[in-house]
Amino acid sequence: MQNTPGKLFLGALSTAVLTVGLTVSAVLPAQAADGASFKDEILPILQKHCSECHTPGGQGQMASGLDLTTYEGVMKGTKHGPVVVPGDAFLSNLMVLIEGRAGPELKMPHGRKDLTNWEKTLLRRWINRGAENN
Ligand code: HEC
Repeated sequence: MQNTPGKLFLGALSTAVLTVGLTVSAVLPAQAADGASFKDEILPILQKHCSECHTPGGQGQMASGLDLTTYEGVMKGTKHGPVVVPGDAFLSNLMVLIEGRAGPELKMPHGRKDLTNWEKTLLRRWINRGAENN
């Protein structure tokens, strides 16, 4: 019987936590909580760091065939094939190059400032969640 007040308290606490959780997810759209929207998060990162060269006629697009200004371009990849493997950021060449895993001379963006850790996290998350056109 000594335990009862504690159990009641824990019960009340988890109800409160559940209520707060439900309220938050009801208020925020799923994507704001997820941070994995191509249109809202991914495209602006590519525009900031990559589009200058990876746009039709740009030096990166001319050399590799990779156009990073549209979803279709990102998914089509280079003239050698896709750079995004939906569901697997680790195997995606896009991330291999951004993270410098293929060596410093191949690191993207070429000769420019690295992406921030948060930008890389968003890209990884978007790819790992299926690289959708969302
Ligand atoms: C200053 C110009 C420039 C910028 C900015 C740039 N790239 Fe590139 N990118 C190139 C060039 C040039 C190539 C052609 C291959 C090479 O020279 O390495 C290339 C090639 C690539 C390739 C294909 C490599 C292969 O396997 O053929 C990928 C993937 C890539 N870039 C991703 C990116 C991403 C992602 C960004 C932004 C984070 C970016 N690039 C920014 C110039 C650029």
